[in-house]
Amino acid sequence: MYEGKKVKLRSFELSDLDCIMKDWNKIHLRRELGPVVPHSRSEREAWIRKTWENRQKGQAFVFAIEELATGDFLGHASLNSVTKINRTAKVSIAIYDDKNRGQGFGTDALKVLLTIGFDYLNLHRIGLNVFNTNPGAHKVYENVGFKKVGELRHTDFVEGKYVNDIVMDLLEDEWRALK
Ligand SMILES: CC(C)(COP(=O)(O)OP(=O)(O)OC[C@H]1O[C@@H](n2cnc3c(N)ncnc32)[C@H](O)[C@@H]1OP(=O)(O)O)[C@@H](O)C(=O)NCCC(=O)NCCS
Repeated sequence: MYEGKKVKLRSFELSDLDCIMKDWNKIHLRRELGPVVPHSRSEREAWIRKTWENRQKGQAFVFAIEELATGDFLGHASLNSVTKINRTAKVSIAIYDDKNRGQGFGTDALKVLLTIGFDYLNLHRIGLNVFNTNPGAHKVYENVGFKKVGELRHTDFVEGKYVNDIVMDLLEDEWRALK
């Protein structure tokens, strides 16, 4: 359930903090994830504790991505804003160190995340937002089955200009047909 071909997903641990802080405040990571403001180690520690609390409440399922071959920490993949009545959730994913990108880890992690979401959490719709300036992520999402359903204009101000948020989603029957 938690293992793909290249990565496995697992709970975050406080021992991940060194790996997180190595890349968290670097522009290659933060540019695509939202407001570029620095986070301290204690803020990331509080975030890890919050992932445990949210999981217990069934509100969000946040996983660390670990490389299967080496056990190295790679980043996070999560199903956020989980709603029980509508059976929906929103994806967030990042491979923190840019030297680990482009090797199939993000694609594999997303496939595992979708299996967890549809086959174990019984979700009906999994959606996401991705900046129109992030063609790499857009491609990865398309590759695993997400479809573009719209575009929100000028949602974020990044590196001196406004960017749009592309909205994508995947429904459970579409995902089962792809399998
Ligand atoms: C998005 C992200 C998670 C993808 O993980 P990854 O391990 O690098 O992705 P993969 O190696 O599995 O796949 C990369 C795919 O994108 C494609 N790609 C990369 N850069 C691209 C670009 N500029 N334009 C088009 N496609 C691109 C690759 O060709 C590959 O597709 P392919 O398998 O069809 O050849 C990772 O790049 C990342 O963490 N980025 C920063 C954070 C981020 O953008 N998160 C998503 C926010 S919505």
